[in-house]
Amino acid sequence: MEKLDGKKISEKFLFEVKKEVEYLKNRLNKSPVLATVLVGDNPASKVYVSRKIKTCQKVGIGSMDIKLPSSIREGDLLNEIDRLNKNDDVNGILVQLPLPPHIDVEKVISFISPIKDVDGFHPVNLGNLLRGNDSLYPCTPFGIIKLLKEYDIQVEGKNCVIIGRSVIVGKPLALLLLKENGTVTICHSKSKNLKEISKSADILIAAIGKPGFVTPDYVKKGAVVIDVGINSISDKNYAFRIKGEVGLKSIEKKGYLLVGDVEYKTVSNIASYITPVPGGVGPLTISILMENTLKAFKLQRGIKND
Ligand code: GUN
Repeated sequence: MEKLDGKKISEKFLFEVKKEVEYLKNRLNKSPVLATVLVGDNPASKVYVSRKIKTCQKVGIGSMDIKLPSSIREGDLLNEIDRLNKNDDVNGILVQLPLPPHIDVEKVISFISPIKDVDGFHPVNLGNLLRGNDSLYPCTPFGIIKLLKEYDIQVEGKNCVIIGRSVIVGKPLALLLLKENGTVTICHSKSKNLKEISKSADILIAAIGKPGFVTPDYVKKGAVVIDVGINSISDKNYAFRIKGEVGLKSIEKKGYLLVGDVEYKTVSNIASYITPVPGGVGPLTISILMENTLKAFKLQRGIKND
Protein backbone atom coordinates (compact mmCIF):
# COMPACT_ATOMS: atom_id res chain seq x y z
CA MET A 1 0.00 0.00 0.00
CA GLU A 2 1.21 3.50 -0.83
CA LYS A 3 -0.06 6.50 1.07
CA LEU A 4 -1.41 9.31 -1.13
CA ASP A 5 0.27 12.25 0.56
CA GLY A 6 -2.18 15.10 0.03
CA LYS A 7 -0.23 17.34 2.38
CA LYS A 8 2.96 17.03 0.33
CA ILE A 9 1.19 17.47 -3.01
CA SER A 10 -0.76 20.45 -1.71
CA GLU A 11 2.54 22.13 -0.68
CA LYS A 12 3.74 21.65 -4.25
CA PHE A 13 0.56 23.25 -5.68
CA LEU A 14 0.82 26.13 -3.22
CA PHE A 15 4.41 26.76 -4.24
CA GLU A 16 3.30 27.00 -7.89
CA VAL A 17 0.52 29.46 -6.95
CA LYS A 18 2.96 31.56 -4.92
CA LYS A 19 5.39 31.77 -7.85
CA GLU A 20 2.67 32.89 -10.26
CA VAL A 21 1.19 35.39 -7.79
CA GLU A 22 4.67 36.92 -7.40
CA TYR A 23 5.12 37.07 -11.17
CA LEU A 24 1.74 38.80 -11.65
CA LYS A 25 2.42 41.18 -8.78
CA ASN A 26 5.67 42.25 -10.47
CA ARG A 27 3.91 42.67 -13.80
CA LEU A 28 0.63 44.28 -12.75
CA ASN A 29 1.37 45.58 -9.28
CA LYS A 30 -1.79 43.72 -8.20
CA SER A 31 -2.39 40.49 -6.29
CA PRO A 32 -5.52 38.34 -6.22
CA VAL A 33 -7.85 38.92 -3.26
CA LEU A 34 -10.18 36.36 -1.67
CA ALA A 35 -13.14 37.51 0.43
CA THR A 36 -14.31 34.93 2.97
CA VAL A 37 -17.77 35.35 4.46
CA LEU A 38 -18.44 33.60 7.76
CA VAL A 39 -21.98 33.82 9.13
CA GLY A 40 -22.36 32.92 12.82
CA ASP A 41 -19.88 31.09 15.01
CA ASN A 42 -19.92 27.43 14.05
CA PRO A 43 -16.57 26.25 15.58
CA ALA A 44 -15.63 23.98 12.65
CA SER A 45 -16.43 26.73 10.12
CA LYS A 46 -14.27 29.19 12.08
CA VAL A 47 -11.33 26.78 11.92
CA TYR A 48 -11.80 26.17 8.17
CA VAL A 49 -12.03 29.90 7.37
CA SER A 50 -8.98 30.77 9.46
CA ARG A 51 -6.98 28.04 7.64
CA LYS A 52 -8.05 29.50 4.30
CA ILE A 53 -6.97 33.00 5.34
CA LYS A 54 -3.61 31.72 6.65
CA THR A 55 -2.98 29.94 3.36
CA CYS A 56 -3.77 33.14 1.43
CA GLN A 57 -1.05 34.88 3.43
CA LYS A 58 1.38 32.05 2.71
CA VAL A 59 1.01 32.38 -1.08
CA GLY A 60 0.69 36.16 -1.32
CA ILE A 61 -3.06 36.26 -1.99
CA GLY A 62 -4.82 39.11 -0.20
CA SER A 63 -7.75 38.29 2.05
CA MET A 64 -10.84 40.09 3.23
CA ASP A 65 -12.25 38.47 6.34
CA ILE A 66 -15.97 39.23 6.68
CA LYS A 67 -17.70 37.99 9.82
CA LEU A 68 -21.47 38.41 10.17
CA PRO A 69 -23.82 37.54 13.04
CA SER A 70 -25.93 34.38 12.75
CA SER A 71 -29.02 36.60 13.19
CA ILE A 72 -28.29 38.49 9.93
CA ARG A 73 -31.28 38.88 7.62
CA GLU A 74 -31.02 37.11 4.28
CA GLY A 75 -31.40 40.43 2.45
CA ASP A 76 -28.50 41.96 4.36
CA LEU A 77 -26.27 39.00 3.51
CA LEU A 78 -27.24 39.38 -0.17
CA ASN A 79 -26.38 43.10 0.04
CA GLU A 80 -22.96 42.19 1.43
CA ILE A 81 -22.40 39.79 -1.47
CA ASP A 82 -23.59 42.44 -3.92
CA ARG A 83 -20.91 44.82 -2.57
CA LEU A 84 -18.25 42.13 -3.03
CA ASN A 85 -19.49 41.32 -6.54
CA LYS A 86 -19.13 45.00 -7.48
CA ASN A 87 -15.77 45.51 -5.79
CA ASP A 88 -13.07 45.20 -8.50
CA ASP A 89 -10.44 44.61 -5.83
CA VAL A 90 -12.14 41.34 -4.82
CA ASN A 91 -11.46 38.40 -7.15
CA GLY A 92 -12.90 35.48 -5.20
CA ILE A 93 -15.90 35.20 -2.88
CA LEU A 94 -16.32 32.25 -0.53
CA VAL A 95 -19.38 31.97 1.69
CA GLN A 96 -18.57 29.32 4.27
CA LEU A 97 -21.26 26.65 4.61
CA PRO A 98 -23.40 25.70 6.41
CA LEU A 99 -25.47 28.87 6.74
CA PRO A 100 -28.04 29.41 9.53
CA PRO A 101 -31.35 27.66 8.74
CA HIS A 102 -33.33 30.89 8.10
CA ILE A 103 -31.10 31.68 5.10
CA ASP A 104 -31.76 30.11 1.71
CA VAL A 105 -28.38 28.71 0.70
CA GLU A 106 -29.42 28.29 -2.96
CA LYS A 107 -30.31 31.97 -3.17
CA VAL A 108 -27.00 33.01 -1.62
CA ILE A 109 -24.81 30.79 -3.82
CA SER A 110 -26.68 31.89 -6.96
CA PHE A 111 -26.15 35.52 -5.99
CA ILE A 112 -22.34 35.28 -6.11
CA SER A 113 -20.97 36.44 -9.45
CA PRO A 114 -20.00 33.18 -11.28
CA ILE A 115 -16.62 34.65 -12.24
CA LYS A 116 -15.85 35.19 -8.53
CA ASP A 117 -17.31 31.86 -7.36
CA VAL A 118 -14.06 30.20 -6.26
CA ASP A 119 -15.99 27.34 -4.59
CA GLY A 120 -17.42 26.41 -8.00
CA PHE A 121 -20.89 25.94 -6.51
CA HIS A 122 -22.78 28.49 -8.66
CA PRO A 123 -25.28 26.90 -11.12
CA VAL A 124 -23.36 28.47 -14.04
CA ASN A 125 -20.08 26.87 -12.95
CA LEU A 126 -21.72 23.52 -12.19
CA GLY A 127 -23.53 23.77 -15.54
CA ASN A 128 -20.23 24.34 -17.36
CA LEU A 129 -18.81 21.30 -15.61
CA LEU A 130 -21.84 19.24 -16.66
CA ARG A 131 -21.33 20.34 -20.26
CA GLY A 132 -17.63 19.39 -20.08
CA ASN A 133 -16.45 23.00 -20.41
CA ASP A 134 -13.69 24.73 -18.50
CA SER A 135 -14.98 26.30 -15.32
CA LEU A 136 -14.13 27.16 -11.73
CA TYR A 137 -14.38 23.59 -10.44
CA PRO A 138 -15.39 22.71 -6.86
CA CYS A 139 -12.20 22.48 -4.80
CA THR A 140 -12.40 19.06 -3.13
CA PRO A 141 -13.38 17.08 -6.26
CA PHE A 142 -10.80 18.84 -8.42
CA GLY A 143 -8.16 18.28 -5.73
CA ILE A 144 -8.90 14.53 -5.90
CA ILE A 145 -8.50 14.47 -9.71
CA LYS A 146 -5.19 16.35 -9.44
CA LEU A 147 -3.98 14.03 -6.67
CA LEU A 148 -4.65 10.96 -8.84
CA LYS A 149 -2.72 12.59 -11.69
CA GLU A 150 0.26 13.38 -9.44
CA TYR A 151 0.53 9.67 -8.60
CA ASP A 152 0.00 8.61 -12.25
CA ILE A 153 -3.16 6.76 -11.33
CA GLN A 154 -5.19 6.28 -14.52
CA VAL A 155 -8.93 6.97 -14.37
CA GLU A 156 -9.70 6.06 -17.99
CA GLY A 157 -11.71 2.85 -18.21
CA LYS A 158 -11.67 2.32 -14.44
CA ASN A 159 -14.70 1.56 -12.29
CA CYS A 160 -15.03 4.61 -10.03
CA VAL A 161 -17.51 4.31 -7.18
CA ILE A 162 -18.41 7.36 -5.11
CA ILE A 163 -20.27 6.87 -1.84
CA GLY A 164 -22.11 10.15 -1.22
CA ARG A 165 -24.10 12.41 -3.55
CA SER A 166 -23.53 15.90 -2.09
CA VAL A 167 -23.36 18.91 -4.39
CA ILE A 168 -20.00 19.83 -2.78
CA VAL A 169 -18.25 16.52 -3.45
CA GLY A 170 -20.15 13.51 -4.85
CA LYS A 171 -21.98 15.02 -7.82
CA PRO A 172 -19.20 17.27 -9.19
CA LEU A 173 -16.62 14.54 -8.62
CA ALA A 174 -18.72 12.14 -10.72
CA LEU A 175 -18.63 14.65 -13.59
CA LEU A 176 -14.89 15.23 -13.28
CA LEU A 177 -14.17 11.48 -13.25
CA LEU A 178 -16.43 11.12 -16.29
CA LYS A 179 -14.40 13.84 -18.01
CA GLU A 180 -11.34 11.63 -17.39
CA ASN A 181 -13.18 8.73 -19.07
CA GLY A 182 -13.88 6.78 -15.89
CA THR A 183 -16.96 4.55 -15.53
CA VAL A 184 -18.74 6.23 -12.67
CA THR A 185 -21.29 5.02 -10.11
CA ILE A 186 -22.70 7.21 -7.34
CA CYS A 187 -24.06 5.37 -4.28
CA HIS A 188 -26.03 6.90 -1.43
CA SER A 189 -28.06 6.04 1.64
CA LYS A 190 -30.87 4.48 -0.43
CA SER A 191 -28.58 2.38 -2.65
CA LYS A 192 -29.12 -1.36 -2.56
CA ASN A 193 -26.13 -3.74 -2.51
CA LEU A 194 -23.78 -0.94 -1.46
CA LYS A 195 -21.07 -3.39 -0.39
CA GLU A 196 -21.15 -5.28 -3.68
CA ILE A 197 -21.03 -2.07 -5.73
CA SER A 198 -18.17 -0.67 -3.61
CA LYS A 199 -16.30 -3.91 -3.98
CA SER A 200 -16.42 -3.58 -7.77
CA ALA A 201 -14.51 -0.28 -7.59
CA ASP A 202 -11.00 0.19 -8.93
CA ILE A 203 -11.18 3.68 -7.45
CA LEU A 204 -13.40 4.04 -4.37
CA ILE A 205 -14.25 7.45 -2.96
CA ALA A 206 -15.92 7.75 0.44
CA ALA A 207 -17.72 11.05 1.05
CA ILE A 208 -20.54 10.26 3.44
CA GLY A 209 -19.56 11.80 6.77
CA LYS A 210 -19.73 8.56 8.79
CA PRO A 211 -16.57 7.67 10.74
CA GLY A 212 -14.96 4.42 9.63
CA PHE A 213 -17.96 3.44 7.47
CA VAL A 214 -15.85 1.78 4.77
CA THR A 215 -14.45 -1.46 6.19
CA PRO A 216 -12.39 -4.10 4.30
CA ASP A 217 -15.55 -5.90 3.12
CA TYR A 218 -16.34 -2.84 0.95
CA VAL A 219 -12.96 -2.86 -0.80
CA LYS A 220 -11.51 -4.89 -3.64
CA LYS A 221 -7.89 -5.98 -3.26
CA GLY A 222 -5.63 -3.44 -4.95
CA ALA A 223 -8.27 -0.68 -5.12
CA VAL A 224 -7.37 3.00 -4.83
CA VAL A 225 -9.22 4.43 -1.82
CA ILE A 226 -9.90 8.14 -1.41
CA ASP A 227 -11.28 9.24 1.94
CA VAL A 228 -13.06 12.60 1.91
CA GLY A 229 -14.53 12.33 5.43
CA ILE A 230 -13.42 14.48 8.35
CA ASN A 231 -15.19 13.29 11.49
CA SER A 232 -14.41 14.12 15.09
CA ILE A 233 -14.79 11.16 17.49
CA SER A 234 -14.21 10.80 21.24
CA ASP A 235 -14.79 7.07 21.85
CA LYS A 236 -11.45 5.57 22.98
CA ASN A 237 -12.23 1.96 22.02
CA TYR A 238 -13.28 3.01 18.57
CA ALA A 239 -10.29 5.31 18.20
CA PHE A 240 -7.98 2.42 19.06
CA ARG A 241 -9.71 0.08 16.65
CA ILE A 242 -9.32 2.41 13.69
CA LYS A 243 -6.08 4.23 14.45
CA GLY A 244 -4.30 2.07 17.11
CA GLU A 245 -2.09 3.77 19.75
CA VAL A 246 -2.03 7.05 17.77
CA GLY A 247 -5.81 7.29 18.13
CA LEU A 248 -5.76 6.70 21.88
CA LYS A 249 -3.04 9.30 22.41
CA SER A 250 -4.96 11.94 20.45
CA ILE A 251 -8.10 11.44 22.56
CA GLU A 252 -6.09 11.61 25.78
CA LYS A 253 -4.35 14.80 24.66
CA LYS A 254 -7.06 16.72 22.77
CA GLY A 255 -10.30 14.99 23.80
CA TYR A 256 -11.07 14.03 20.21
CA LEU A 257 -9.64 12.28 17.18
CA LEU A 258 -10.16 13.23 13.55
CA VAL A 259 -10.98 10.22 11.41
CA GLY A 260 -12.18 9.68 7.89
CA ASP A 261 -15.06 7.67 6.45
CA VAL A 262 -12.67 4.77 5.90
CA GLU A 263 -11.37 2.38 8.56
CA TYR A 264 -7.79 3.28 7.70
CA LYS A 265 -5.83 0.62 9.58
CA THR A 266 -7.68 -2.38 8.15
CA VAL A 267 -8.44 -1.01 4.66
CA SER A 268 -4.81 0.02 4.11
CA ASN A 269 -3.90 -3.70 4.15
CA ILE A 270 -6.06 -4.26 1.06
CA ALA A 271 -5.79 -1.01 -0.92
CA SER A 272 -3.00 -0.26 -3.40
CA TYR A 273 -3.20 3.45 -2.56
CA ILE A 274 -5.06 5.24 0.22
CA THR A 275 -5.42 8.81 1.49
CA PRO A 276 -4.87 9.36 5.23
CA VAL A 277 -7.05 11.58 7.45
CA PRO A 278 -5.77 14.11 8.27
CA GLY A 279 -3.19 14.92 5.58
CA GLY A 280 -5.02 13.50 2.57
CA VAL A 281 -7.83 15.28 0.75
CA GLY A 282 -8.24 18.16 3.27
CA PRO A 283 -5.07 20.12 2.43
CA LEU A 284 -5.81 19.75 -1.30
CA THR A 285 -9.18 21.49 -0.90
CA ILE A 286 -7.41 24.61 0.34
CA SER A 287 -4.66 24.56 -2.29
CA ILE A 288 -7.27 24.30 -5.07
CA LEU A 289 -9.12 27.22 -3.50
CA MET A 290 -5.92 29.24 -3.90
CA GLU A 291 -5.58 28.04 -7.51
CA ASN A 292 -9.20 29.01 -8.18
CA THR A 293 -8.68 32.48 -6.70
CA LEU A 294 -5.67 32.96 -8.98
CA LYS A 295 -7.67 31.61 -11.94
CA ALA A 296 -10.57 33.98 -11.17
CA PHE A 297 -8.14 36.93 -10.97
CA LYS A 298 -6.75 36.03 -14.40
CA LEU A 299 -10.22 35.47 -15.93
CA GLN A 300 -11.33 38.88 -14.67
CA ARG A 301 -8.27 40.51 -16.26
CA GLY A 302 -8.41 38.59 -19.50
CA ILE A 303 -5.10 36.84 -18.78
CA LYS A 304 -4.93 33.41 -20.37
CA ASN A 305 -4.97 30.37 -18.09
CA ASP A 306 -2.86 27.44 -19.21
N1 GUN B 1 -18.27 23.79 4.07
C1 GUN B 1 -17.76 22.55 3.94
N2 GUN B 1 -17.01 22.45 2.83
C2 GUN B 1 -17.06 23.66 2.22
C3 GUN B 1 -16.48 24.17 1.03
O1 GUN B 1 -15.76 23.49 0.29
N3 GUN B 1 -16.77 25.47 0.75
C4 GUN B 1 -17.56 26.23 1.56
N4 GUN B 1 -17.79 27.48 1.19
N5 GUN B 1 -18.11 25.78 2.67
C5 GUN B 1 -17.86 24.49 3.00
